[in-house]
Amino acid sequence: MTIALRPRLTVAVLVIVLASGAVYAHRGATGIVKKRMDAMMSLGDSMKALTAMMRGKQPYDVERVRTHAMAVARHGGRDLTRLFPEGSLQHPTRAKPAIWADWERFSTLAKEMAVYAGALASTTANQRRSGRGGSMPVDPTPEELAAMAPDVVFERLRRTCSDCHRTFREKSELPSRPAEWFGRLARVNPASTAASR
Ligand code: HEC
Repeated sequence: MTIALRPRLTVAVLVIVLASGAVYAHRGATGIVKKRMDAMMSLGDSMKALTAMMRGKQPYDVERVRTHAMAVARHGGRDLTRLFPEGSLQHPTRAKPAIWADWERFSTLAKEMAVYAGALASTTANQRRSGRGGSMPVDPTPEELAAMAPDVVFERLRRTCSDCHRTFREKSELPSRPAEWFGRLARVNPASTAASR
């Protein structure tokens, strides 16, 4: 293949990747694995909307923050853990067997997700943190949580997602979302990295 053809090939590949998107990620998933992937995807959508507002990319809308926070809270606790019956490792899951070896940690994280998302829903009208700083006690009481800045609670909620993923989800060989593909392409392709600087 000549060098001149490569840009066209890259575009073609990107189009296919974009078109397949989430469908690709769920290829072949059925039953409980599909159900939890769908649930996790909707968590991802809520967190994306919240991130945009928390980081000032979209206007901070108290009602929208509350709606998304409550949607996340509803998926937490037992509603999350019941999507992981013991040994449910059917293809193409990325769940790790460690889930059942350390069920207590797994279910604690699921519960924390509900607690912090619920707290976020009830602190939406509090003063937001200005600038940097703002830490959270290790194990905050409900009163402490209720008095916190919503963006501090939000960061804690985000950490709950990533803490669980780091321990209990396989890293994927192939990124599951088009945005991740772009991220990777930008990183491995010096030309586009330079262009984005
Ligand atoms: C208690 C553990 C736990 C928590 C908390 C958790 N996740 Fe997950 N998440 C998982 C596991 C395990 C998988 C892999 C599921 C599978 O492939 O069967 C997963 C998968 C995902 C996926 C990929 C779904 C797919 O289609 O492959 C997304 C997106 C996701 N989680 C988003 C989130 C977000 C956002 C949060 C926080 C609001 C969150 N998760 C909280 C354990 C968790």
